[in-house]
Amino acid sequence: MLSLITLATSALALFGLARGAIPDATWNLPINLTDPNSPTVSVTGTIQMAVAQMEADYPGWNATFMALEPRPSDDNRKDDEPEPNIVYKCNTSEAMAYKADIKEGIKYLRKVPGTAKNGAGPDNCGRVSCSYNSAIIWCNQDDEEKELQWYQIADAAQYTYYYCLFDIHVIYVRGHGDYVDDKWGVIIRKEYC
Ligand SMILES: *[C@@H]1O[C@H](CO)[C@@H](O)[C@H](O)[C@H]1NC(C)=O
Ligand SMILES: *[C@@H]1O[C@H](CO)[C@@H](O)[C@H](O)[C@H]1NC(C)=O
Ligand SMILES: *[C@@H]1O[C@H](CO)[C@@H](O)[C@H](O)[C@H]1NC(C)=O
Repeated sequence: MLSLITLATSALALFGLARGAIPDATWNLPINLTDPNSPTVSVTGTIQMAVAQMEADYPGWNATFMALEPRPSDDNRKDDEPEPNIVYKCNTSEAMAYKADIKEGIKYLRKVPGTAKNGAGPDNCGRVSCSYNSAIIWCNQDDEEKELQWYQIADAAQYTYYYCLFDIHVIYVRGHGDYVDDKWGVIIRKEYC
């Protein structure tokens, strides 16, 4: 028998498909964030949804997550110093995201332990962060599965964010950053969430 929730979820899924929505990422998150040997659970959603789910299942999880130190970028690169291996595209036709929410999403991603996996591409994309209709998406452009550290996705989003800041758009940002050689990239844009 279909429950109301199943029906609502299917309706949302159909609606999402109709809009060509990008699927959300799946996370393997430790039940106990301060225990390196903690068992993990699999949660699908944006990082914001995943944190809310973990908090619902393991009360107190969110406070511990919030208190984690964000992992710095891999190479101590200055924020406004573009990573030379990324090809940037800022002037796309996509709607813009709010700068503040993208920054917040990057900070969240820097706290997530473990790896991000995406199936074979190209253009196999997953939404990793979305708040106030402002999303960070990562795409596998390789023809095989790809696994990265979450902070690498945060790094790519951060470089793209700073490269694509347009002074004329005081509160908005948008852009693509692609590691063409490594065959993956990120997208910052407006998405409904
Ligand atoms: C989480 O792990 C830490 C370190 O092993 C331990 O001190 C703490 O009690 C654990 N917390 C919970 C809620 O099990
Ligand atoms: C997590 O904690 C932050 C900071 O205290 C709070 O703003 C947010 O609403 C919390 N989220 C959840 C899902 O509890
Ligand atoms: C951005 O794209 C628009 C529309 O294609 C074009 O008119 C504009 O000149 C472009 N701006 C830059 C800085 O490339």
